[in-house]
Amino acid sequence: MHLSLIPLANSIKEYGGSIALAENEAVYSNIELPLLKDTSRSKAKINIYYQASMGQAEYSLKCTGGSVTIKASGRVGAYYALQTLRMLGRFDEGVCRVPCVEIKDRPKYKYRGVSLDESRHFFGKEYVKKMIDEMFRLKLNVLHWHLSDDQGWRIEIKKYPRLAEIGSKRAYTQLGSATSDSFEQKEYGGYYTQEDIKEIVEYAAARCVNIMPEIDVPAHMGAAIAAYPNLACRELETEVFGYFSDYIPNKRGIEAWNRPVCMGKQESIDFILDVYDEVAALFPFEYFHIGGDECKTLEWARCPACQRVMKENGFAKEQELQKMLTGILCRHLKAAGKRAVGWNEILNGGEIDKSVIVQCWENKRLPLCEEYARTGGSLIMSNHKSFYFDMPYAMYPLKNTYEFSPGKYGITPELEKAVIGIEGELWTEWMPTPQKLEMQLHPRAEALAEAGWTDDENKSFSDFLKRFDSIKGIYERLGINRAADKTANPKNIIKRFYYIYKIRHGNSNIEFLANNKLLQKEAAASTAED
Ligand code: ACM
Ligand code: ZN
Repeated sequence: MHLSLIPLANSIKEYGGSIALAENEAVYSNIELPLLKDTSRSKAKINIYYQASMGQAEYSLKCTGGSVTIKASGRVGAYYALQTLRMLGRFDEGVCRVPCVEIKDRPKYKYRGVSLDESRHFFGKEYVKKMIDEMFRLKLNVLHWHLSDDQGWRIEIKKYPRLAEIGSKRAYTQLGSATSDSFEQKEYGGYYTQEDIKEIVEYAAARCVNIMPEIDVPAHMGAAIAAYPNLACRELETEVFGYFSDYIPNKRGIEAWNRPVCMGKQESIDFILDVYDEVAALFPFEYFHIGGDECKTLEWARCPACQRVMKENGFAKEQELQKMLTGILCRHLKAAGKRAVGWNEILNGGEIDKSVIVQCWENKRLPLCEEYARTGGSLIMSNHKSFYFDMPYAMYPLKNTYEFSPGKYGITPELEKAVIGIEGELWTEWMPTPQKLEMQLHPRAEALAEAGWTDDENKSFSDFLKRFDSIKGIYERLGINRAADKTANPKNIIKRFYYIYKIRHGNSNIEFLANNKLLQKEAAASTAED
């Protein structure tokens, strides 16, 4: 029998036998735990004690002699112990029987994240809370919230009301796949008010999840430029775009597509700083994501104002304008007590302040990230082949996520201390619904959670699959979609190539639709076994 625990704890002694608990078993705790209504019961079967010597997320859990004893140095460790108890005792299935074990546990990485792109599709407050619940169950602790992009601006900014009024809506949405010339001609939109944001941040904090906002600059600013065309180098006629890749706008020769904000205008820099001030004030987490990915520099090369700034600063290439912006934002955020995080392209323009955390994503060897690690910088690993959860399983099977190691991406053992953690990416161009998103996310989030928590010597993919198999029943009960085993671990190479081709050229849903059928088959097979 496998322990029904993901991520697997780092030290487990199994004693044999088990104890039965009630679904709402009384808890005594001398650590304040606001999610539990009553923790003052002196004769409780579950007892939580403060132990100063432990790390923030560390805990111990002993389940023997008819009761459960938990030790932690605070709220995070205590809650994580309770999540372990919840999984071991299969509380989500109503079993509530905990094996007799002694566990000592703490995470491998301090940063264990998932991103959510709400620009391409908007999921809304209740859904984000559901995702946070899931993260809590898996001991994932950072939600990286991508709140702005070319296809929609999703957060109220009081100083710039047109961002919500104009920037949050698009008139059409591309359908099918990146290359398809097919559109839904219907207004699509949504944004969070600052009150919504406060509510979600508070909800997340209670569940040990930090939220890192991303306002992506200087590129991916199409929605902001639609609202404030003066931010761009040239005031072309523009819109909030409904294209999900370069293919169609390039084919149509749309000049306004994919332009960064102007680095030669003080008003553009001031705009970003004002927006950052409002956003930073809403999110207590120390990290603030400045984006920085995929910045095309052609507009800057043609713009007299950008060229003047280059000349004044003695810059030889346009990418140094982005480096300048990164420096301004880093200093500004530092003054507000924050650390900037940026995609790996922020290293392309030359040296940046080492306080900036670089997120490695591009699907190639990244020598600049390696150099950054070598010279004292910190990294978050979101390498494409392991962590781009928007990609089909046919392309990146579950094993890619589970068997992540920094060494696979050029981070040699002596550089590993630079890695603060890992993050799975949910770009939502082709995920219009929670059902699709959840199928892309589960069980990758589970594999990510274990890769982020469990030491290499305690990990085994085959054991992970067995443990996942033992908890599969909860997904239906919790109302969460997931990939079937045959989707997540595809074997037929011809079918894999066919799916990858179709997903790029015509039908981004082919794997998703096949998965619905595979889940039904799994359910029928498990009923037959019972
Ligand atoms: C990215 O995928 N453009 C970070
Ligand atoms: Zn310019």
